[in-house]
Amino acid sequence: MSNKPTIPYADLYAQYLSIKSDIDAAIEEVIKSSAFIRGPFVERFEKEFANAVGARHCVSCANGTDALYIAMTGLGLAPGDEVITSAHSWIATSETITQAGGRVIFCDTDRDTFTIDCARLESLVTPRTVGIIPVHLAGQPADMDAVMAVAAKHKLWVIEDCAQAHLAQYKGRQVGTFGVAATFSFYPGKNLGAMGDAGAIVTDDAGLARRMAIFARHGGLTKGEHEIEGINSRLDGLQAAILSVKLRHLHSWTQARRRLASEYSERLQRIDGVQVPVIAADREHVFHLYMIKHERRDDLAGHLARSGVQTSINYPVALPFLPAYRRFGHRPEEFPNAFANQSRIVSLPMFAEMTAAQVQGVVQAIASFPG
Ligand SMILES: Cc1ncc(COP(=O)(O)O)c(C=O)c1O
Repeated sequence: MSNKPTIPYADLYAQYLSIKSDIDAAIEEVIKSSAFIRGPFVERFEKEFANAVGARHCVSCANGTDALYIAMTGLGLAPGDEVITSAHSWIATSETITQAGGRVIFCDTDRDTFTIDCARLESLVTPRTVGIIPVHLAGQPADMDAVMAVAAKHKLWVIEDCAQAHLAQYKGRQVGTFGVAATFSFYPGKNLGAMGDAGAIVTDDAGLARRMAIFARHGGLTKGEHEIEGINSRLDGLQAAILSVKLRHLHSWTQARRRLASEYSERLQRIDGVQVPVIAADREHVFHLYMIKHERRDDLAGHLARSGVQTSINYPVALPFLPAYRRFGHRPEEFPNAFANQSRIVSLPMFAEMTAAQVQGVVQAIASFPG
């Protein structure tokens, strides 16, 4: 490590300081009313978040992983049902398919946008396929027209994994409003992040919303009345109150991320060997991750670490190649784009409070990489 000041990958404390008095007041209000589990703060946030996404219902839960599990359970996934999802995502997207009783079918990702490769999608549909989970990875929407066309043709449901894509848009329409349901994570580092774990599902389908809420709350909405066996996956009052405060800033934070991303791209595209993020037509990317590609990624990441720049790799091993999926015996040739990308991608520091000097510092560090 050099003695240069570190440019952090994210700075959650800077975000807290920028809204400290509102956060502190919100926490105090919850403590004063002891509304720790569900209660008015959770109900208010559910309404606010449904409105922000443009969906009729929001079912909050403990995290974005449970959100996927609850959504698939609510849709009645049955043993042996096949669900197609992105080969390059966080393991939550695929592990929950198995947990809900389904079989994971991986689809390669697009080489440039890292979202599900719609040119291959339909070839994976079998008589056992019931649904598709596109992931709006890094904050860039998947090609939802193409996903929805395959889904409509084969009568499949679509759950959008929006964990990294709060407020992202496809053809002027917000992600989370295309599929029958969409799942969100409010993990602290997400574009809308709690101060602990939190998640939600949105849907326009009232029946599905009810089934999901019941399942997430021990199988019943009223204590002592359990219609089914469920799980305990609740958003707590403190997180809900914090999320309500932060939601008011989400639009301006998103704009800030987009501005920082343009500054990065304008400068980095002049540096040999760096491939800046490619934004497909009609997509509004919200840059949860600012992910570049480089042929010598590991050397570059090492150089950046020595220069005091924190980076992250999202994700270094695509899902089919993880030991967790060894049982499928997948080969690199089946997922050529995900396989090629996994060793080339690196995510640079990206957070709304990032200063111009910090962007400049990252760019200079990359420019000084002996290429
Ligand atoms: C694409 C994706 N899906 C699902 C999740 C799961 O969310 P959580 O960490 O809140 O369980 C994440 C979060 O890391 C994610 O990035």
